Amino acid sequence: MEIFADTADLTEIRAWLDFGVLDGVTTNPSIMLAGGIYDLRQGAQAIARILDDKPLSVEVVSDDLQEMRRQAVEMASWAPNIVVKIPVITTQGEPCLGVIASLRRAGVRVNATACLSFNQALLAAKAGATYVSLFAGRISDEGADASEAVRRTASWLKAWDMPTKIIVGSIRETVNVQDAALAGAHVVTVPPKFLRQMIDHKYSRFTVGQFLADGQSAAARMSDLGLTLRSNGGSAKKAPAARSK
Ligand code: E4P
Repeated sequence: MEIFADTADLTEIRAWLDFGVLDGVTTNPSIMLAGGIYDLRQGAQAIARILDDKPLSVEVVSDDLQEMRRQAVEMASWAPNIVVKIPVITTQGEPCLGVIASLRRAGVRVNATACLSFNQALLAAKAGATYVSLFAGRISDEGADASEAVRRTASWLKAWDMPTKIIVGSIRETVNVQDAALAGAHVVTVPPKFLRQMIDHKYSRFTVGQFLADGQSAAARMSDLGLTLRSNGGSAKKAPAARSK
């Protein structure tokens, strides 16, 4: 399973790349705005550069199908690793499937975003989306079972040998990551604050502290006894200090 960072924060993206766990980044207009990125092209290119060939999702900003397609082609030209997010429907409920299909034919990779049901994900995959984004938190907001939607979509994609990957987004708590992972998500996109919570554990901190303290006590005891630690794990008497003449 891949892990994407759901952020436009370059410091966090660099850090998680260095940790060796990051496979890509997703953004949306709200994330860009919150990160103070108003020039979409410049902001997207800065992120795309540090990701090298890992995918970066950038979302179109239009409710008009033709304009969406135009923006998508332009965004895809900003960097080779840009995947364009196309909402699965407009604000009026008009399907954006034709835009997805046409971009697919033009060789532009699409992340069909704002999917809140199995059926939306199914149709977006049929239209040729490279990724379908199932928004777990927003599915739960509606009282539905996000894990079940992910599980059903994953099993349908597999049964029909579809190449589309599920990205689970809208992560609200760290437990959502494990739920998505175990439900069969191909990708989970996680805001960095939850990535940090995922790795931390107060009892791990205590455990590491306990072993560190005991290791240091042992080293102090060795020093009291005049012993030094050998590289093979054994110990030896320290050579007596040279006598001063
Ligand atoms: C991911 O691709 C989405 O942009 C993001 O996870 C949406 O999250 P939200 O529901 O918290 O806005």
